[in-house]
Amino acid sequence: MKPAHIAIIMDGNGRWARARGLPRTAGHRSGVEALRRTVRAAGEQGIHWLTVYAFSSENWSRPKSEISDLMGLLRLFLRRDLAELHQNGVRVRVIGGREGLEPDIAALLSEAESLTANNTNMNLVVAFNYGARDEILRAARAIAAEAKVGNLDPAALGAVDFEAYLDTAGIPDPDLIIRTSGEQRLSNFLLWQSAYAEFVFLPCHWPDFGADDLAAAIGQFQERDRRFGGVAAKEAVS
Ligand code: FPP
Repeated sequence: MKPAHIAIIMDGNGRWARARGLPRTAGHRSGVEALRRTVRAAGEQGIHWLTVYAFSSENWSRPKSEISDLMGLLRLFLRRDLAELHQNGVRVRVIGGREGLEPDIAALLSEAESLTANNTNMNLVVAFNYGARDEILRAARAIAAEAKVGNLDPAALGAVDFEAYLDTAGIPDPDLIIRTSGEQRLSNFLLWQSAYAEFVFLPCHWPDFGADDLAAAIGQFQERDRRFGGVAAKEAVS
């Protein structure tokens, strides 16, 4: 079966640029093109949910100029690509903290979500100013506040109830997580949601990622035996 939800850690823009003697911004710019290609390719592959890690809550520690370049690219991506995404029936959702973002960026993110809210062909989830620990902490705070005023019984709280407080409420868990550029770690991405995800690590840098790489990752996923803590279907009867 194909994965219903693919999440991607788009890594290696900087190294791609350095290898070509270019500034890091050039890597991020090519990264946006790879993102564009990948959304199209995922749609063609019939992938219903695609999540991309565009800016982590830890990325604020990068040099100011690089942060401003990344913000500029997000602005450009939302302004230039939103119409096409909408036309193709793509629903955009944004996960991550909204506080502290520049007002025009926050407004663009909300606009992308509201414009595309009724689209059903495909879902693009953009993780922006996202960190999984921050997400879980915000959920825990909200739950504690509800419990404090007596709206919620902590002892009765189950996993499904907890998920409703995460940024990803209503979004299915990722089946496949892809990370480019050879690193093999999650970097604070979807820690709760990735409990049973399959991982595919690819050596190519993100700007070089394309439809063939996506197809290859889906192919690897299809060879995996997912047991979700149980036993393989064929062994369950013996
Ligand atoms: C990782 O490369 C990539 C990022 C931190 C940002 C991902 C951003 C894009 C693909 C383009 C921006 C898209 C939007 C919509 C904002 P890196 O810089 O960590 O690369 P390195 O590890 O080689 O230095």
